Amino acid sequence: MNTTPEQRFPDDFLWGAATAAHQVEGNNVNSDWWARENSATTDLAERSGDAADSYHRYREDIALLASTGLRMYRFSLEWARIEPEDGEFSRAELAHYRRMIDACREFGLEPMVTLHHFTHPRWFARRGGWRNPEAPALFARYVEHCLPILQDVTWICTINEPNMLSMTRGEFGTEMAAANLPAPDPDITQLIIQGHRRACEVVSALPHARAGWSIATQAFHAMPGCEEEAAAYGYPREDIFLEASKGDDWIGVQAYLRTFIGKNGAEPVRDDVERTLTGWEYFPPALEIGVRHAWELSEHVPVFVTENGIATDDDTRRIDYTHDALAGLHAAMSDGITVYGYTHWSALDNYEWGSYAPTFGLISWDKETFRRTIKPSALWLGEVARTGRLFHPAR
Ligand code: BGC
Repeated sequence: MNTTPEQRFPDDFLWGAATAAHQVEGNNVNSDWWARENSATTDLAERSGDAADSYHRYREDIALLASTGLRMYRFSLEWARIEPEDGEFSRAELAHYRRMIDACREFGLEPMVTLHHFTHPRWFARRGGWRNPEAPALFARYVEHCLPILQDVTWICTINEPNMLSMTRGEFGTEMAAANLPAPDPDITQLIIQGHRRACEVVSALPHARAGWSIATQAFHAMPGCEEEAAAYGYPREDIFLEASKGDDWIGVQAYLRTFIGKNGAEPVRDDVERTLTGWEYFPPALEIGVRHAWELSEHVPVFVTENGIATDDDTRRIDYTHDALAGLHAAMSDGITVYGYTHWSALDNYEWGSYAPTFGLISWDKETFRRTIKPSALWLGEVARTGRLFHPAR
């Protein structure tokens, strides 16, 4: 085993893993995604169904993460459960999420609560989703109703990947290759930015909250002579959101891949590179590139790596990828970039927006019994977390 003493992370660095409600809870029947999955004309390969049944098994999931040595759990509240009808709020569902926060504390995990992770209540979608000029106010009203359960919570992520949300209008599916997505709708972008600002205002009433949001960074690379095209391509898809994060308590970076930009926009992934189960290029430096870019464009808002990971059925490759991504993160931190923590995507294998085939989890589960199995990568990452020292078990 090779340990590199200089690759040491700060003692208060928050190491954890992340999930999103719709991807692990199961039976999120009131969401726009459930409606889409179950429509007769669905374009999706698979339905979410019971997912990992984490709605009922969250204690076990939290306990398992804690047992590895990780110290944070990033999860999302499901708007479609909390506000099942326009203006009707469920105290029982809020109490459910409060129990999740309590379970985190009981097992020694710091919670990071995401208020919005891709899915919407059906009524919100029917009212036009983020195309509706009232969307920021509707989102802020929901966030206000969440405040009572968030009184002692520090880390609040208002909106997960607003740039993906704007590119997809909430409509992406199995082929979530960022490179294939259209340019964001500028009106949606503005409304989502307003939604974030309104949510930050609401959350500022909490005594301990540190609020930010999480941007999908795509490490855009210009093909030779295509620098201008790359800048024009990247601005509405990423930079506008990074710039809109100025003044936030932190900025979330979610990095997986790189995208080459040529004269006609994004280039397809080359045939001669290693691909992950999502079809993305295996490219661990995406994290360092995303972190440096977010830091620069936000004018030095402290970074939180809220997602990074790999869809693979070869767990040793997950360790390789994550190790190399973390080495890049460490290099960025050594250059003076403030990074508060890292939550790996994902805690569990999960519903990858149309398919269960791309497995991102540190923990797998049996489709029939839901029995959880901790993968070696989880134990390795837990040891990195416990010791604060980056090492590779086989190199
Ligand atoms: C999203 C997750 C998704 C992951 C891997 C991010 O875009 O926040 O929901 O599962 O990347 O595709």
